[in-house]
Amino acid sequence: MNFCLGCEVCQRNGGICIHSDDVSGILDKILACDVLVLATPVYYYGFAAQMKTLIDRTFAKVGMIQNKDAYLLMTDASPRQGDMNVLVASYRSFIGCFDHVTDKGIVYGTGAMEKGEIGKESLTAAYEMGRLT
Ligand SMILES: Cc1cc2nc3c(=O)[nH]c(=O)nc-3n(C[C@H](O)[C@H](O)[C@H](O)COP(=O)(O)O)c2cc1C
Repeated sequence: MNFCLGCEVCQRNGGICIHSDDVSGILDKILACDVLVLATPVYYYGFAAQMKTLIDRTFAKVGMIQNKDAYLLMTDASPRQGDMNVLVASYRSFIGCFDHVTDKGIVYGTGAMEKGEIGKESLTAAYEMGRLT
């Protein structure tokens, strides 16, 4: 995934990015899906750079992404759910850029510094959200 350069060529050519990389295939899937799940570790209170890179690249399709249920799955080391508030605000602001893309659920995978430390409540919450979608 290359970084968005902010050249705005995509805004003048119907949504085609100047980069030729894997993101175009991901954007096609985002356009086609009914349910959008963003999954990221919390890095310095925000999205991990990989996720943020993809988010920035959705700019090419900003007027075309619509009518989806959205979910956010996060993990972090802190036991305090409030330490995820900045990322949650970013997620809500991001989906708010699109028409009828609605938050349907957030999993707060707190206290998971190492592999396997994810709490059972988080796994159950994710399972239930998937089951009810
Ligand atoms: C660069 C970096 C920044 C991080 N920043 C935070 C942070 O701001 N708050 C926090 O609680 N944990 C932070 N962590 C810990 C990760 O969020 C945590 O280990 C996460 O569960 C890793 O998810 P993964 O196992 O899916 O990679 C950070 C870890 C790294 C490597």
